[in-house]
Amino acid sequence: PRLAVIVVAAGSGTRLAAGGPKAFVGIDDRSILHHALRGVFDAPEAQVVVVAPAGREGDALTEVAATAGDRLDRVTVVVGGDTRQASVAAGLDALWADVEVVLVHDAARALTPPEVFSRVVAAIDAGAAAAVPALPVVDTVKRVADGRVVASVDRSDLVAAQTPQGFRRDILASAYAAAQADFTDDAALVADRGETVVVVAGDDRAFKITTPADLLRARALLEGAPL
Ligand code: C5P
Repeated sequence: PRLAVIVVAAGSGTRLAAGGPKAFVGIDDRSILHHALRGVFDAPEAQVVVVAPAGREGDALTEVAATAGDRLDRVTVVVGGDTRQASVAAGLDALWADVEVVLVHDAARALTPPEVFSRVVAAIDAGAAAAVPALPVVDTVKRVADGRVVASVDRSDLVAAQTPQGFRRDILASAYAAAQADFTDDAALVADRGETVVVVAGDDRAFKITTPADLLRARALLEGAPL
């Protein structure tokens, strides 16, 4: 296929404190990875690369088998690294030759609706080299040093970046090949190389499950309860 989705799911889940890797923590009776993959398989036809924690490849495959349907033959499971960036790099190494557009998606954004995938792909199809979904920042952001506020940052031109983030494959691959510093998202790495990253609308439901409170929010969303 022309499109690939790399689903990074190799994080340790330390901040979730659920006693194991985050991807396998249940939201309802299904895991974070299960819900994330359901969303990915709703998206357009693509190669899907699942980046799993070392030793948990079999568990990742079980979730793939439960969600992929007739797309099972387009899924690759690989082992991640110590940082998110290393995990994405492992995913990139598994891309098939014909892939031209790559989406990188956090499994932890398990309830991301399909429209977000569509908006990102549409931006790349319209000619962007890179596209990220984002939401306006609602908090007032402070710069802090030594426990004191040194600046209040004007939030009017700030956004919070989500995933899936989309890239032309050649641009993402060369940014990764040249990467020196560690970045917390792929758009930062690509922007550091001087590429333009366009912003599309994110979605509240694409929030990242990081803390126990986030898990409660995800559970409430699945139950159809108000946020
Ligand atoms: O740590 P954080 O929640 O920001 O991680 C975002 C995503 O990156 C998660 O889906 C997590 O599983 C993934 N990740 C990874 N490998 C790491 C660290 C994080 O695949 N070493």
